[in-house]
Amino acid sequence: MSDQSRDTIESLSHEDRTFPPPAEFAARAQIQEAEYRRLLALAETDYERFWAEQAQAELQWIQPFTRTLNDREAPHYQWFEDGLLNVSVNCIDRHLPDRANKPAIIFEGEPGDTRRLTYAELLHEVVRFANALRGRGIKKGDRVVLYMPMVPEAVIAMQACARIGAIHSVVFGGFSGDSLRDRINDAEASAVVTADGGFRSGRVIELKAVCDRIIGDCPSVHTVFVLKRAGNPVTWSPARDIWWHEAVAGAGADCPPVAVGAEHPLFLLYTSGSTGRPKGIQHSSAGYLLGTILTMRWVFDIRPDDVFWCTADVGWITGHSYVAYGPLAAGATLLMYEGAPMVPDPGRYWQICERHKVSVFYTAPTAIRALKKQGDDYPARYDLSSLRLLGSVGEPINPEAWMWYHTHIGHGRCPIVDTWWQTETGAHMIAPIPGVSTLKPGSCGRALPGIMADIVDNKGDPVGAANTGGFLVIKRPWPFMLRTVWRNPQRYIDTYWKEFDGRYYVSGDGAKRDADGYFWIMGRVDDVLKVSGHRLGTMEIESALVAHSRVAEAAVVGRPDELTGEAICAFVVVRGTRPSGPDAEALTQDLRQWVSEHIGPIAKPAVIRYTDNLPKTRSGKIMRRLLRAVAAGEPITQDVSTLENPDIIRQLQGD
Ligand code: WTA
Repeated sequence: MSDQSRDTIESLSHEDRTFPPPAEFAARAQIQEAEYRRLLALAETDYERFWAEQAQAELQWIQPFTRTLNDREAPHYQWFEDGLLNVSVNCIDRHLPDRANKPAIIFEGEPGDTRRLTYAELLHEVVRFANALRGRGIKKGDRVVLYMPMVPEAVIAMQACARIGAIHSVVFGGFSGDSLRDRINDAEASAVVTADGGFRSGRVIELKAVCDRIIGDCPSVHTVFVLKRAGNPVTWSPARDIWWHEAVAGAGADCPPVAVGAEHPLFLLYTSGSTGRPKGIQHSSAGYLLGTILTMRWVFDIRPDDVFWCTADVGWITGHSYVAYGPLAAGATLLMYEGAPMVPDPGRYWQICERHKVSVFYTAPTAIRALKKQGDDYPARYDLSSLRLLGSVGEPINPEAWMWYHTHIGHGRCPIVDTWWQTETGAHMIAPIPGVSTLKPGSCGRALPGIMADIVDNKGDPVGAANTGGFLVIKRPWPFMLRTVWRNPQRYIDTYWKEFDGRYYVSGDGAKRDADGYFWIMGRVDDVLKVSGHRLGTMEIESALVAHSRVAEAAVVGRPDELTGEAICAFVVVRGTRPSGPDAEALTQDLRQWVSEHIGPIAKPAVIRYTDNLPKTRSGKIMRRLLRAVAAGEPITQDVSTLENPDIIRQLQGD
């Protein structure tokens, strides 16, 4: 956390509307008041027993564990370490006795094609692809990178890795070739699974072509599996590339699951932090899976007849926990949609809800705001009576968007679970229990049973008083927490545990708690941006900018944005004279394209401003708080007397 960001925690405006659980919902909810109290009390009195009981009840073990928590190498905690299990068995095989013919996945492609896979069919597909992986020599512990569209095969490939103990690392299909290459190389992946292309916003996203451009710089990769999805032409390297359909055609229909230790890494997922390159967040097998199952039940109240739709891409943690693993582990029917929400028009999401009778719907505030902006008519055209519960994730949801979601999508009938969590936490941490909790628009409620969340000041002391802002921390390890940063244990310690001398897991978020104990998240206190709910480090964007031949220095900050939550604002110092007029316009175009190629279109700056130098403190640190105020068009209240060139402020303001 930078010094300048320590004092950025401000109080949100006061919101006092409350929504108790509707009586009908509460009466049928899986977690009722008494059970909720029991869970909270057990976690308080006997923390390890609490988690041991959950892990025994919810997971199918090949060999039961005898030790619950090992903290000898804290903060490298281990959970259930001597247990053995297989994650794909827990997600698929164990449902076969009573749910073989139940749909596991209902898929709708952007062009409108649909597919259904029952649990029995899903197992068949997973086993065949697992054998295809084995056929190419991939074994337990090997890394497999996925660069896929949102199609069932993405989930099949993840589950197939889990079946043989290979470690997957999914790279969001919107990331550029450079980002893909860096992740493949950091993970030293043996294989990549991609597709010819996927459909998104009416276009074909050519994934294989992106792969081809960088794969020559990825010496560890010997095989690229290519799913035929969009039918676009691809170039081929016969020694390395193999079509998915050909690889599974000859594969056996039996693949005994590989037993792995509870702590065996299930996956790596690269995410942005405030410094350095994206880091490979490493998750475990048993603890991680436990978090996804429990929260499917506690927070999503999942039931056998639910159709559960989480709109997140599998390239993000939400698409891991609530697309690829949680819904299947809970035995639910999962809906997957390939494309964009506005195709062919902004009614698409609601049409899908009607068509497939979605009952639990989980999305991001940025999508809610964008759809709200399109007007109330779109949702009004569709029968949304199958919906019974709504969810929100990824950034704070503003009360106006919450109210619209509640009124126009939930028709006042569906509770909204606003779920706070992170790539690192694995599953929900602070969230309502929908049959029990009274909701407050804009608050994510209380911490879940067993999650010891608190708010501390900059010395690490709990702030105690209600409505006082501070740093959101977790005081005890929990089973679904990240285990480390891939091949960089020191970075794990430095990023998450150093701030308060190893006493707490530091989330990087600022928050306050009101008099009822409800958490209100106030956003990141480090240099991480949330743009449309996507997590980006300012540092990454700055390094992409300075890699351009005309750029000498760059500083990137977030600016509040009505739709995307935050928008990227870059202040750039060029080599030579500060550009203006058509030259500045052309360079801006060029730089936006440049960032898009280096990171991905999601990282394109919304605004680029040119300046002769960046405002710095005497010690040479960029005054980010000042830049944030400038970007937001706010009056400058900071002390600027130390600025070398005070005129710079006007330049920064874009005059
Ligand atoms: C933010 C996404 C407010 C937060 C699951 C966190 C939220 C970061 C919420 C993690 C929420 C996530 N309310 N803010 N309900 N959920 N965040 O790793 O700043 O992509 O630190 O994980 O998103 O982003 P990540």
